[in-house]
Amino acid sequence: MAYFNWTNDLSVGNTQIDSDHKQLVDLVNKLHDAMKSGKGNTVLGEILADLIQYTSSHFKREEMLMQKINYAEFAEHKAEHTKLVGEVLELQTRFKTGATTLSVSVFNFLSDWLRTHIKSRDVKLAVAIAAIK
Ligand SMILES: [Fe+2]
Ligand SMILES: [Fe+2]
Repeated sequence: MAYFNWTNDLSVGNTQIDSDHKQLVDLVNKLHDAMKSGKGNTVLGEILADLIQYTSSHFKREEMLMQKINYAEFAEHKAEHTKLVGEVLELQTRFKTGATTLSVSVFNFLSDWLRTHIKSRDVKLAVAIAAIK
């Protein structure tokens, strides 16, 4: 069951970015499902690693688009990406060492972050991309 439902208000109007975001939502839901159904740490660790990898590649794609169009808010937008990657890598380290478990609060943190970032930062980027096409 999906807990983070993709809704049209999350669409930024750019097919490539939207498709990346849908994939991220799927991965966040996959992590949630695995936690809820009591999957072991091996499975959880694998999903978390997939999520981190996909997030990093998505951020790189957005950052390349920003550079391509000489985006005025590149620095602020990239700083949010960098901060999240740092936080999630730290979470992964704590998870691997057994200092933390993956709980619903992790799911809430990730889904809230994604929702807020898409609606504040990514929407603006998509508008800027559309304007120069
Ligand atoms: Fe972004
Ligand atoms: Fe994004």
